[in-house]
Formats: sequence, structure tokens, C-alpha cells
Amino acid sequence: MTKDVMDAIRERRSIRHFAPDSVDEFTVGRILEAGASAPSAGNIQPWTFYAVFRQDIKDRLSKAAYAQESLISAPVVIVVCALPEDTAARYGERGRSLYCLQDTAAATQNILLAAEAFGLGSCWVGAFEETAVAAALGCARGERPVALVPLGFSAGEKPQPPARYDLSRTVKILH
Ligand SMILES: Cc1cc2nc3c(=O)[nH]c(=O)nc-3n(C[C@H](O)[C@H](O)[C@H](O)COP(=O)(O)O)c2cc1C
Repeated sequence: MTKDVMDAIRERRSIRHFAPDSVDEFTVGRILEAGASAPSAGNIQPWTFYAVFRQDIKDRLSKAAYAQESLISAPVVIVVCALPEDTAARYGERGRSLYCLQDTAAATQNILLAAEAFGLGSCWVGAFEETAVAAALGCARGERPVALVPLGFSAGEKPQPPARYDLSRTVKILH
């Protein structure tokens, strides 16, 4: 039983402390399918996803991410990589520097929401040394790691929703 999409959007929080319980590969597969279902410019799908279960690689990812502990304690870390040249081949510079990153951001958000729908905690980790992450994964040339997503059962952490600006500040309605 998974959650309604609006509930998942409302209830998702960044989780950074994980229980040692493993996450089964079937569920990880469903979450990756959600990532791969994201929209992308021209449907180019300029991404690859790594699902890292190996502790030694998770340790290296954590080192590359300024020792963020969530990447060590999570039973699995998903790494979203962008393929900028795939998008550039059709859309030039705008494809390389904008569409490709928008596409992989959409895929990352789908992953976070699918994790929430399956009752798992996750966090979008963007602070890391790209070259160190690429080396830990053995990325091919042209694969650019853009997001790390530790995934697992929350170790009891239930963060309060951080404040968001009121819509009256962020929405501009033009009739
Ligand atoms: C692009 C991006 C990079 C982020 N990088 C990190 C990070 O390196 N480490 C971390 O713990 N959280 C990171 N976060 C999570 C944010 O801190 C979090 O989404 C924000 O505080 C709002 O909390 P919420 O996700 O619970 O709504 C990042 C989020 C985004 C979108």
C-alpha cells in the first residue's frame, strides 16, 4: 500500500539518521522506476542511477560529501548522474547547462517521493566533491554525479516540517 501523491509531497521530510534494517531490492527497483519516469527534455532521459549497497563505497561517498553520516548509515545510497552531452547533442548549450540538470532534478524528486510512498526516509544530498564521487563509483566519462540519496528506514527521526514562505510571497497571479 503506497501513499497518495499529495500526502507523499506533504509528509516527505529529509531523513538523515537510518535504522540498520535493510531495504529489499524490489522496493529499490520500484523507486528507481519512479526516477526513470520523470519528464526530460525531448524524452532524452539523460541520466544513470547507481544503487550502492556496498559499505566500502558508501564510506567513500560519505568522505566525498564532507563526512555526511547519513551516507554511511543508510542501507542503500542512490546516486543520480547526469549525461549532459546527451542533451547537448540535440539542444546545444541550453541542453547541457539547463535541461539536463532540470531533468535529473525531476528524477531525484521522483525518487524522494517514491521513497516516502514506500514508507522509507531519504534525503537529497548535494554537497559533495563530484570527482571523488565519480571515482568511488567508477563513472564513465561524461557521467556527472548530481545528487546522492541515502535511503532507508528512519531511526526514529521525525522532523517537524521546516517553515516555508507563505504563497502570498512566492506566487504572482496575473489575471
Ligand atoms: C539541491 C539540494 C541539495 C541539498 N544538499 C543537502 C546536503 O548536502 N546535506 C543534507 O543533509 N541535506 C541537503 N539537502 C536537503 C535540504 O536541507 C532540505 O531539503 C531542506 O532543509 C528542507 O527540508 P525538507 O527536505 O525536510 O523539506 C539538499 C536539498 C537540495 C534540494
